[in-house]
Amino acid sequence: MSKIMVTGGTGYIGSHTIIELIKKGGFDVISVDNCVRSTPETIGRIKNITGKRVENYFVDICDKEKLFQLFEEENDIIGIIHFAALKSVPESVEKPLEYYRNNLQSLENVLEACEIFSIPNFIFSSSCSIYGEVEKLPVSEETLVGAPFCPYAHTKQIGEEMIRFFADIHPKLSFVMLRYFNPVGADMSGLNGELSPEKPNNLMPIITQVGIGKMQKMKVFGTDYNTRDGSCIRDYVHVTDIADAHIKALDFLVEGRNKSNLEVFNLGSGTGVTVLEMIHAFERITGVKLNYVLGERRPGDVPAIYSNSNKAERELGWTCKYSLDDMIISAWQWENYLKNNA
Ligand code: NAD
Ligand code: WQD
Repeated sequence: MSKIMVTGGTGYIGSHTIIELIKKGGFDVISVDNCVRSTPETIGRIKNITGKRVENYFVDICDKEKLFQLFEEENDIIGIIHFAALKSVPESVEKPLEYYRNNLQSLENVLEACEIFSIPNFIFSSSCSIYGEVEKLPVSEETLVGAPFCPYAHTKQIGEEMIRFFADIHPKLSFVMLRYFNPVGADMSGLNGELSPEKPNNLMPIITQVGIGKMQKMKVFGTDYNTRDGSCIRDYVHVTDIADAHIKALDFLVEGRNKSNLEVFNLGSGTGVTVLEMIHAFERITGVKLNYVLGERRPGDVPAIYSNSNKAERELGWTCKYSLDDMIISAWQWENYLKNNA
């Protein structure tokens, strides 16, 4: 059977995508992840959910020799879904060179592998962070990319440009770049989810950690924005919907429905939710009161961003199946699973 290589397959979005790939069937799946930001235990979690054990190769994708050796050994790879990257905005500000090295060297290596081993299909994890502060909402794929606000976002902008120039000289290879908005939540089984760093930066893991008592309290970053309640607006989207978009993008390429050999899609729910709305929705759904204070703005935050995902709906047949309530319920189930299985 043809194989799909998932880089970063033990990470948050990679593991959920492997689950959906297995559920759909039709491909063998291999993962390549050195677990620099994840745990090999995720492979067991994928098996608990799907009944299937996926092979994970512990390879640093920046190590070209080891990566290419893997391509020599594994035949029939017809597609790569490239998730592997470092993704923390504040860490990237502290360690810019590490971010440029890891995220760009790894991308260069997998692209070169596509060229040398003739891998026809490639899907790249991009991010809404490339847009920066926008004048007009919602954001479509035509919205101009903004000035980079941190090294992490810059690696995604450069990554997209690398792929663009590379695609130009390889008409037989096809590429999809998916710009995710704010993926949150966990597999609806509650058995796989995000493994956040000890001090998470993102809203949803902070909410669930405060809810469960791992963190004492949280702060709403800014209540004087020009939004309906003064807090920032984001486009949260369930991780399984994001995973499903990769399956649809893969089918789109494999079936040759792409008009050009490089296509870009926004992946968001299209609905903006404020920080305070998210906090109150969590309290309503779980019955748990959150210990939060209203605080200053966080530097670098844009007031509001949400997606126009019409292109993904039209061309990939992708729409979100899961609601904000599902995102919160599954994230909360996962936080409880972690507590009970520590
Ligand atoms: P994650 O940290 O959970 O997963 C990334 C995985 O890549 C980790 O398992 C890590 O160990 C692995 N990895 C990193 N560098 C590697 C290397 N050199 N060699 C081998 N493995 C390596 O992150 P995620 O949330 O699953 O994100 C996946 C992708 O989606 C990333 O490219 C990220 O930038 C992008 N993205 C994420 C979000 C988000 O909010 N989660 C939003 C937009 C885009
Ligand atoms: C969401 C909102 C905060 C924590 C980041 C990356 C982006 C993409 C998605 C990878 C903001 C507010 C947060 C807290 C708060 N990732 N907040 N108190 O910043 O929209 O996007 O993740 O590509 O690149 O930048 O997500 O979850 O950090 O914040 O009030 O303790 O929650 O100010 O408005 P963000 P986030």
